[in-house]
Amino acid sequence: MTPVTNLVQKDVLIRKSIMEDIDRFIEIERQCFNPKFRYEYSILFSLLYMYPKFITFSACINEIVIGYISGELDEGDQSNFKIVTIAVEPEFQRKNIATKLLQTLIETSKETYRITHVELHVYSKNQPAIDFYSSHGFEIKKEIKNYYFRRAHALLMGKKIK
Ligand SMILES: CC(C)(COP(=O)(O)OP(=O)(O)OC[C@H]1O[C@@H](n2cnc3c(N)ncnc32)[C@H](O)[C@@H]1OP(=O)(O)O)[C@@H](O)C(=O)NCCC(=O)NCCS
Repeated sequence: MTPVTNLVQKDVLIRKSIMEDIDRFIEIERQCFNPKFRYEYSILFSLLYMYPKFITFSACINEIVIGYISGELDEGDQSNFKIVTIAVEPEFQRKNIATKLLQTLIETSKETYRITHVELHVYSKNQPAIDFYSSHGFEIKKEIKNYYFRRAHALLMGKKIK
């Protein structure tokens, strides 16, 4: 059997997330985020339970969840779709998996809603994530001071959708 780490992009399946994915989400959060930035069980549960408010996709290899993305329509501006979270297990990063998740979520939100732009907040010191979004055409719109907690600022990044 091929070792999981040798599997390539074609072996990654992107599918709608299901409640059974929650344990893997918790594990991926643990591996990807400092405790202060980690989503708790209750929030992850909401992302899965509150479909279609939240649209969530999982990336799987051999039926094991190795990444996910979630987003929702901006209730204050229904032309805007907000990415709530994205994470890929460290050993599978830089293999285009987050790109596939992002493309799937944006395509689905375009089919579901009449959106003209996509936005997200990212920790201002999370350079890999900023680079990831920049590589997909997102631009920094502004910094929001103390967004996460004291002295942990967010960048609001956005992109127009065709
Ligand atoms: C950000 C994250 C989701 C990217 O996932 P990924 O699957 O590695 O991303 P991709 O392989 O699709 O990357 C696509 C492009 O984004 C850019 N990029 C991604 N990770 C990068 C990094 N660590 N450093 C610099 N550029 C990066 C590159 O341009 C990359 O293309 P390349 O590999 O051909 O150079 C991943 O690093 C992660 O899970 N981080 C921890 C969780 C997190 O911070 N989430 C964001 C919360 S807002």
